[in-house]
Amino acid sequence: MAQVIDGKKWSSVSRQETAQTVELLKAKGVKPGLVVILLGEHPASMSYVRGKDKAATEAGIYSEVIHLPSSTTETALVQLIERLNHDDRFHGILVQLPLPEHINEQSVIAAIAPHKDVDGFHPVNVGALALGISGFVPCTPLGVMKLLEYEGIDVTGKHAVVIGRSNIVGKPMAQLLLSKSATVTICHSKTQNLSAFTRQADLLVAAIGKPCVIKADMIKPQSVVIDVGINRLDGKLCGDVDYASASEVAQFITPVPGGVGPMTIAMLLHNTVLAAQRMAG
Ligand code: GUN
Repeated sequence: MAQVIDGKKWSSVSRQETAQTVELLKAKGVKPGLVVILLGEHPASMSYVRGKDKAATEAGIYSEVIHLPSSTTETALVQLIERLNHDDRFHGILVQLPLPEHINEQSVIAAIAPHKDVDGFHPVNVGALALGISGFVPCTPLGVMKLLEYEGIDVTGKHAVVIGRSNIVGKPMAQLLLSKSATVTICHSKTQNLSAFTRQADLLVAAIGKPCVIKADMIKPQSVVIDVGINRLDGKLCGDVDYASASEVAQFITPVPGGVGPMTIAMLLHNTVLAAQRMAG
């Protein structure tokens, strides 16, 4: 049976580390601040934003949520971001995605000051990650790297297969694994013979968004399986990996819930405090 990577435990460890850094900053007169902007009433987004707000407050971070109607114009949203870029109370600005259809996501992301972009979605930060220079790294892939580090899993020279090519998870995940000297393959919805790739994966990262599609026969024995998916199947939360069967083949596996998810929030707090540290000099 695979060893379960406990994301709840590691997220709590990370959040305590962050809370300690917050105390050090406060002693220097700096209170890290995060503002989250949410448009509309999308239930999953509302739940994520509540979680971020609560976790930030628990870590000693000043947190505000700006909840606007879904009819908000792109111009109004960009004007708000520009005001927040100059608001010293906030070191991090996060616009919860997805945005309503009438708004161009890339235009909104580009309006965020790169040094406050704690999501790591701004082109400047995407470029910094590609170049391997200092910036902000997207929270979910950063959380995966942190889990591997906490578990003592070294990816040097290993074949890492990432399924998914989104800007939020797949692409930055591949960059991070490459920067740690893994041999990286990116698969996606158009990949032919997916299982031929997954069966060669020493590390498999599934970020597909379809419930339980990675079956045990697609997994290399004694590999590390990281499940980024959060899906609902018959009202139950499940990942992209068929956990019950996969955990009989893999050496390490992340559960859903309680795997990568809690790390995403921990990394948002980490990035916010990093932003405050950098601004404090
Ligand atoms: N929606 C789903 N994941 C994310 C994320 O990491 N950041 C933001 N801003 N929105 C999201």
